[in-house]
Amino acid sequence: MILRDLVDRLTTSVVGRRREIDLVVAALVADRHIVLEGPPGTGKSTLLRAVAAELGIGFEFVEGNAELTPARLVGHFDPARVLADGYDPAVFVDGPVVSALRDGSLLYIEELNRVPEETLNVLVTVMSEREINVPRLGRVAAAPGFRLVAAMNPFDAVGTARISSAISDRVCRLAVDYQDETEELAITRRHGAAVTDEFAARSVELVRRTRLHPDLRSGSSVRGSIDLSAVAASLADVRGSSTEDPEVSLDAVLIALSGRVRVREGCGRTPEDIVTELWREIFAPATEEAQGDTGKANAPTGATPVG
Ligand SMILES: Nc1ncnc2c1ncn2[C@@H]1O[C@H](COP(=O)(O)OP(=O)(O)O)[C@@H](O)[C@H]1O
Ligand SMILES: [Mg+2]
Repeated sequence: MILRDLVDRLTTSVVGRRREIDLVVAALVADRHIVLEGPPGTGKSTLLRAVAAELGIGFEFVEGNAELTPARLVGHFDPARVLADGYDPAVFVDGPVVSALRDGSLLYIEELNRVPEETLNVLVTVMSEREINVPRLGRVAAAPGFRLVAAMNPFDAVGTARISSAISDRVCRLAVDYQDETEELAITRRHGAAVTDEFAARSVELVRRTRLHPDLRSGSSVRGSIDLSAVAASLADVRGSSTEDPEVSLDAVLIALSGRVRVREGCGRTPEDIVTELWREIFAPATEEAQGDTGKANAPTGATPVG
C-alpha cells in the first residue's frame, strides 16, 4: 500500500522512530491535529519536517515564543496601505494561520507551550471551527488538508506553561522520549564528524550518563554527542593531535557538554566538575590503554578539570 511506502521512505531520513513515524502519519492521514511532547533533542522537529516533506504537503512554520501575538499568527492590515486604500482585503498581510487555512496546509508550531494564552485562544477556534473570522477581513475557511502539528517540551521546562484543556482536548498527543543507544549512535555518526567508532560510542555513552547523574537535574540530548564528536575532530586538527589524546577529548567534553547540563541546586558542584568526572569514567580507561599506563586515571594537565 502507498502509505507503507511512504513510511518506508521516511525511515531513510529519520533514524529509527518507526512507531512514532507510523503514529504521526496515521494521525495526519486521518485528518487529525497532533502535538509531539518530549525533551529537547528527541527528534520532534526532525520527524515532523520529514513527514510533512514526504507527504508533499505545504507547511507554515511558526516558532512559538512569548512574542507570538495573535496579530503575528493571524496576519494584519498594513497600516500605511490602509491609510491609502482603506481596509481592502488586498491590504491584508496573511499570517501563518490564514495562509495555512487558505492553502489547506500544515500549521506547524514549535514550542507550543511557550505561546501566550491569548494567542493560543486563536488556535482553539481555528481547530474546532476550521475557520477564522478576522475583523474587517471576514471569514477564512480551512481548505481540505488544513491541520495543526506542534512540538513542545514537557511542562516543567523553563518558560513553558501547561496547555489549556481547550487545546489539549482537540489534539492527538504523542509522547517522545530519548532515543535508545543504538539510535543515538547512528544519529551522532550521521550528524557529527568523522571520528572513530570507538570515540562516537564513548561520546554517546557519556551523554547518556549525564541524564542519570544524581547531581544533574537535566542532562544533554543527542545534540551533545553530535557536538562532542564534531568539536573533538576539529580540535584534534587544530592541535595537530588525535581524538585519542586525552587533552583533546577532555576539552571537547567540557566545551560540548558543560553548558548543556543543569546542576541540581545545592549540590555545590560545577558542571565542569561533573562532566570531568564522567569523562574520567568513560574516556580515561581508553587513554590509559593507549598510553600503556596502569596507574590511576588522571585528567591531563593541559586541560583544567575542576575538583
Ligand atoms: N531520529 C532522528 N533521525 C535523524 N536525526 C535526528 C533524529 N533525532 C534527532 N536527530 C538529530 O538530533 C538533533 C536534534 O533533533 P531535533 O529534531 O531538532 O529535536 P527536537 O525538535 O526534539 O528538539 C538534530 O540535529 C537532528 O538532526
Ligand atoms: Mg524542535
